[in-house]
Amino acid sequence: KNKKPYIIEFDSIGSSELGYISVAEAQKQVPFDIKRVYWTYFTPNNVQRGHHAHKNLQQIIVAVSGVIEFKLTDKLGFEQVYILNTPSKGLYIPELYWREISFSHNAVLLCLASEFYIKSDYIRNFQKFKNH
Ligand code: TYD
Repeated sequence: KNKKPYIIEFDSIGSSELGYISVAEAQKQVPFDIKRVYWTYFTPNNVQRGHHAHKNLQQIIVAVSGVIEFKLTDKLGFEQVYILNTPSKGLYIPELYWREISFSHNAVLLCLASEFYIKSDYIRNFQKFKNH
């Protein structure tokens, strides 16, 4: 069990004349079965969200509009920043990554999630996360 975050480059089907379609299917572009989809919007660009990790949840994040910046930190304290600035890319986040997220004013974040919403799956204290 040594999963790492990575950027997914979805195929862009179409052309600049017609526009594009990108597709995410379970166990294909998405390395899990999708149980839940949620989206966030209208986050002011001076607000940082996240500040938690998940015990079991895996996610794919797509900025379907706007620009979204993810800072991911692993349990050893290693930080990496991922910038989502095109709807043709996604960010895979395995379980047990602390995240801090900022958004452009027009950003819409789409999340494909491997689990239903379970409140007890969240770790909201960084020290508890590091000790988990
Ligand atoms: P949360 O995941 O805590 O977002 P952030 O850490 O970025 O602020 O979600 C915010 C609120 O939305 C929280 O009260 C729980 C609720 N929520 C659900 O009820 N179901 C869901 O699937 C999600 C993602 C959040």
